Amino acid sequence: MHAFVWLIPLKSLDADGRAIQLGEAAQLELAPGQSDFVGDPLRMMLTGLAEESRFPYIVESEGRAVGVLTLQLGAARLAGWADDQSAWLLRGFLIRREDQGRGLGTLAARAAFREAERLSARLGGGETGVVLSVNEGNPTGQAAYRKAGFLDQGPYPGGSAGPQRTMYRAFDR
Ligand SMILES: CC(C)(COP(=O)(O)OP(=O)(O)OC[C@H]1O[C@@H](n2cnc3c(N)ncnc32)[C@H](O)[C@@H]1OP(=O)(O)O)[C@@H](O)C(=O)NCCC(=O)NCCS
Repeated sequence: MHAFVWLIPLKSLDADGRAIQLGEAAQLELAPGQSDFVGDPLRMMLTGLAEESRFPYIVESEGRAVGVLTLQLGAARLAGWADDQSAWLLRGFLIRREDQGRGLGTLAARAAFREAERLSARLGGGETGVVLSVNEGNPTGQAAYRKAGFLDQGPYPGGSAGPQRTMYRAFDR
């Protein structure tokens, strides 16, 4: 596989750059039924820009937007973690329908992990890893996260679309 992905940090762009990327996010479409697992990409990016604790990213490959994801501080319990502060929350993650199944989800999850590690080092936070929750009925999501090094931590009953699994990857340091 020769695919690459880059994470474009929306909060680091100027107004023009943001507008372009938000326009791209608005074009991203999921396959039928997948909206049970994740929110609307444009809305998630706008929420990410509005909230200090969130770091919204466009996933880019071959010069175009193929997905979105958000890293968030202080919210790990939303994924079934024991406390809010000790881990980054990875949320709002999707790859657009046309590009699914090419390995980009795995690469993007790995890139999100590395980005969280860099942010912790830069911001001086005490986070020890990245946590997320994924629906038990979403084997593709579970496979992508597993291949990106996340380990199943057990069931998490929260979640509007049914039971979830909590998955976690600890930083290497
Ligand atoms: C989950 C998602 C981000 C994965 O992205 P992707 O680019 O399709 O993922 P990848 O191509 O890296 O595939 C991941 C693995 O899932 C596997 N997979 C695909 N469909 C599968 C299925 N029905 N059952 C089990 N594994 C499956 C793939 O085969 C691949 O493993 P492989 O490389 O060993 O074959 C993407 O499918 C998506 O956006 N889904 C809708 C939104 C969503 O579910 N987001 C996650 C919320 S937690």
